[in-house]
Amino acid sequence: MESIQAVKQRFGIIGDDQRLNRAIEKAIQVAPTDISVLVTGESGVGKESIPKIIHSLSHRKHGKYIAVNCGAIPEGTIDSELFGHEKGAFTGATQTRSGYFEVADGGTIFLDEVGELPLPTQVRLLRVLENGEFIKVGSSKVQKSDVRIIAATNINMQESIKKERFREDLYYRLSTVEINLPPLRDRKDDIHLLFRKFASDFAMKYKMPTIKLQDDAVSLLQKYRWGGNIRQLRNIAEQISVLEQERIIGPERLKEYLPDIGSNLPAVIADKKKESDFSNEREILYKVLFDMKSDLTDLKKLTLKLMESGNTQKVQDENESLIQKIYGDNEDGEDVDAEELDALSNENLEVLQIPQNSPKSELNREKDKYYFAEEIQEEETLSLQDKELELIKKSLERHSGKRKAAAEELGISERTLYRKIKQYNL
Ligand SMILES: Nc1ncnc2c1ncn2[C@@H]1O[C@H](COP(=O)(O)OP(=O)(O)OP(=O)(O)O)[C@@H](O)[C@H]1O
Ligand SMILES: [Mg+2]
Repeated sequence: MESIQAVKQRFGIIGDDQRLNRAIEKAIQVAPTDISVLVTGESGVGKESIPKIIHSLSHRKHGKYIAVNCGAIPEGTIDSELFGHEKGAFTGATQTRSGYFEVADGGTIFLDEVGELPLPTQVRLLRVLENGEFIKVGSSKVQKSDVRIIAATNINMQESIKKERFREDLYYRLSTVEINLPPLRDRKDDIHLLFRKFASDFAMKYKMPTIKLQDDAVSLLQKYRWGGNIRQLRNIAEQISVLEQERIIGPERLKEYLPDIGSNLPAVIADKKKESDFSNEREILYKVLFDMKSDLTDLKKLTLKLMESGNTQKVQDENESLIQKIYGDNEDGEDVDAEELDALSNENLEVLQIPQNSPKSELNREKDKYYFAEEIQEEETLSLQDKELELIKKSLERHSGKRKAAAEELGISERTLYRKIKQYNL
């Protein structure tokens, strides 16, 4: 049987808390069986590693591992996703399709956010769990599948059962063994360890010296509530790594990043924006990273809404401001007011994604999850603006000066391209 330490190393799990160790030990113990496992714990505690551990230590390890986020699939399509459908089962079902239960035969299915499953799907799931049988949507033929199910949830299942949102029989069937992961606030000794690991990872990723915390800042970190658990700690380590010039962080500076203690992050960004004149390349890099992250979050929101609603016009109407924020408010761009653009030139700069060479050594180091980067390579001189200028020039040449096509190729709005053309005097 693999040791807890070896499993931690293999799956990049940091920490030495007793309850964490017990959870991993349980995963190792149940892995060789086909017992259903329910992983519980608050959001961001690291539940997603447990099913991976179980699958890879089981006799199914050469079979498929399919992770399904039950909360992200619209109610209308979840049965078809999980169990497949027959041709003609519903409008748009032009072909017979296999579901995850058919595809993962001989393997493992991880049902993440299982508490979100609609009640009719819960009935189908109960049947598979009981005798391995399922029926495709629109079919009458019973099929068999040998799948191990591991589920996870961050909600209180007893409450869901009381409110009749979750079937009690299914809950007991899923939770033959329950593996609970402790919240970060109860793992005080692991907090700094995790922070150091994340700070080291981000130092490597962004090619900057590693952030270090003064002792007082470490105590503050340990006293904090960590509502978002390890995910929140990781995000904060990333924000500090990217934003702070001074790499030794004291408690006052740290407070600015901890919501509910002093001022929170948005205030920090606002200050930085005012100070920034983008004269130095590192400032631009910070800005790029932040804008990209914010765009990505907005796009995720929009995609989810589209998936849930399926009605493009409705989503468009309801999210006008979000769409404007992501794409700019002038998609046609041909009648852009030059004066207005001049006035905007100091506003949010949308910067292109510039391909960077990632050195091989970095890739190798990334694989070694326990590598703590205390040293950092000499920073290579980045000239983002030069590269951006070159990309724009080439794209415009390729499209014989046509802004619309060039903007599309560069992945920015035509308005932004226009602004950049003016900025670089092209
Ligand atoms: N012990 C750990 N060591 C290192 N990283 C961890 C650890 N636990 C969690 N993480 C990281 O924290 C983040 C959140 O973990 P994960 O996605 O598994 O949370 P979760 O419990 O599934 O949360 P949710 O219920 O919101 O889905 C991930 O980036 C994960 O890699
Ligand atoms: Mg999760």
